[in-house]
Amino acid sequence: MHICKAMMAAVSVAGALSASAARADGTVEVLHWWTSGGEAKAVGELKKAFEAEGGEWIDSPIAGGGGDAAMTALRARVVAGNPPTAVQLKGPGIQEWAEQGALNDVQSVADEGNWDAVLPPALAEIMKYQGKYVAAPVNIHRVDWMWANPEALKKAGVEEMPTTWDEFNAAADKLQAAGIVPLAHGGQPWQDATLFEDVVLGIGGADFFRKALVELDPEALTSDMMVKSFDQLRKLRGYVDPNFSGRDWNLATAMVMRGEAGFQIMGDWAKGEFLAAGKVPEQDFLCWPTPGKGFVLNSDSFTFFKVEGEDRIEGQKVLARLIMSPEFQKVFNLAKGSIPARTDVPLDDFDACAKRSHADLLAAIENDTLVPSMAHEMAVPRSVRGEFLDLVTAFFNSDMSSEDAVKQLAAAIKRAQEN
Ligand code: BGC
Repeated sequence: MHICKAMMAAVSVAGALSASAARADGTVEVLHWWTSGGEAKAVGELKKAFEAEGGEWIDSPIAGGGGDAAMTALRARVVAGNPPTAVQLKGPGIQEWAEQGALNDVQSVADEGNWDAVLPPALAEIMKYQGKYVAAPVNIHRVDWMWANPEALKKAGVEEMPTTWDEFNAAADKLQAAGIVPLAHGGQPWQDATLFEDVVLGIGGADFFRKALVELDPEALTSDMMVKSFDQLRKLRGYVDPNFSGRDWNLATAMVMRGEAGFQIMGDWAKGEFLAAGKVPEQDFLCWPTPGKGFVLNSDSFTFFKVEGEDRIEGQKVLARLIMSPEFQKVFNLAKGSIPARTDVPLDDFDACAKRSHADLLAAIENDTLVPSMAHEMAVPRSVRGEFLDLVTAFFNSDMSSEDAVKQLAAAIKRAQEN
């Protein structure tokens, strides 16, 4: 049993089970960005469960890892007065839409299923607006992971997975010398920012991460630690192949699968890709936290926009109920690469990477080293995140010095906060 005292007070499986047995007869149009192999498989589980209850599912996938294209599409739909019924949304974005009065709450479903008792309190808070649930979480993803091809490492003479960035650099040098791309990467702003935040955690630690990337403390943003973080990001830039620009993240994962590349630094949705391709963890691929102590948290959730029609409102309730059912949380997360958001779903059928993620999550809560992902919209408003992404990408694609990067970053964040 993996239930953590720190994370929950009581369990009410029975309530959730009986709730999920209700019939649907509703309709949902679901806007999401899960279009890669592993992602499509995972969201397919939700569609299946919804249809099994008699509901009609209208799929609105918007391709583009990290969800930036989906968020643009969402804004256009809302401006046109035609929002989708359910939308994959997260972190402060949930609050931003709720503040605009765009969301329906699903508090009655949450009461019935006793969500407060089965969600980590920190996650429950993110799902609520003015004390009511306006979102239902499907998972807990970890961002600070690296994925490796054991054969490629062996060929290059890398015997151990790196636990410091210096060790990572040494392993990458060996891969490079062996003619293997050290780091599979897709040059898209959110992927660059994913590397950046993992590096910040590793170089500066969780307290520094929090000060710089969550609290936006000007001193932290301009500190030597931040300069060092950019220095390491510059090292990583030297380890990607010449064709990295614009590459989708799942194509980078495929490079590791094929042994063309040694490592990929990416959240555990990458594991969903390996699994969808029939690869076996600890055999065909390795999972290992990026150097650093902590856990960079990312959680996907669905929100329910204000729509007309009994049928659609009923659909929202059924979807919320299903998302939070223990059965769904298990099948979905087995496919997605993440772990359940509910704390009472046994992990017996999950692989070693998921178990490690769970153990490290509990340790991070205990040691206060759990930090929300900036790159994946868990930490700061979209406008501020946009500044991080622009600067980090500009740095990655130029010969900007780390000192200049730090100055420009601090100035951009200040501007965003003043607006
Ligand atoms: C989401 C994941 C998704 C990934 C790549 C992240 O921001 O949280 O669910 O798989 O982007 O698209």
